[in-house]
Amino acid sequence: MLLQPAQRTKLDESDDRLFYDFPRFVTHVDEGFIQQLTDLYQERLQPHSRILDLMSSWVSHLPEEIEFEHVEGHGLNEEELARNPRLNHYFVQNLNQKQLLPLPDQSFAAVLIAVSVQYLQLPEAVFAEIYRILKPGGICIVSFSNRMFYQKAIQAWRDSSEAERVELVKGYFAAIPGFGPAEVIMRPSQVPSFLQMLGMGGGDPFYAVIGQRQG
Ligand SMILES: C[S@@+](CC[C@H](N)C(=O)[O-])C[C@H]1O[C@@H](n2cnc3c(N)ncnc32)[C@H](O)[C@@H]1O
Repeated sequence: MLLQPAQRTKLDESDDRLFYDFPRFVTHVDEGFIQQLTDLYQERLQPHSRILDLMSSWVSHLPEEIEFEHVEGHGLNEEELARNPRLNHYFVQNLNQKQLLPLPDQSFAAVLIAVSVQYLQLPEAVFAEIYRILKPGGICIVSFSNRMFYQKAIQAWRDSSEAERVELVKGYFAAIPGFGPAEVIMRPSQVPSFLQMLGMGGGDPFYAVIGQRQG
């Protein structure tokens, strides 16, 4: 098994919908991170394709100049999703309670999970669903930094170093036969962590793990 039951636990085990009940119109990472993410989307996403922004909010970080055929959104807070200008449609679903997505097989060219994967308690089941809805050759881009709602992140994430978190997400892809070997982008902070904690310099570290559904 990829994760032991204890590694899936959160410090705050109350229903996630309560935690996300009120909207947060904030960004969860700094501008440098968001620019790197938008640049990555610019490089990897096909114009006029169908995109799923899983675990989304009021922003999707998609390049403004790219037009997509359809951007489906998903998250836990309806007000945030309603304010997201990139979404053509959205649905609210707690992925820790229900993993099956209300979306047809092989219907998306790309699935995005931005700064949220640490909250999934049953990642294998969610990644199996991502695989199911991706078209052959489709990609899933999982991005993250070093920030989180600590009480809502799973123990395996809280207890890991940044490099170990990359391995964890690679493991989520590897758990699903049919995803090729995941590609990794690692841009750790160049500033020692004690200086970062003092707020002295260095932008947010940027990590992305990209899985592709084999053709
Ligand atoms: C830090 S926010 C990131 C939002 C957005 N992706 C972004 O880049 O700003 C974390 C998001 O994870 C999603 N989330 C957290 N727990 C969830 C759960 N149990 N089921 C579904 N989505 C969840 C919520 O939609 C929340 O907005």
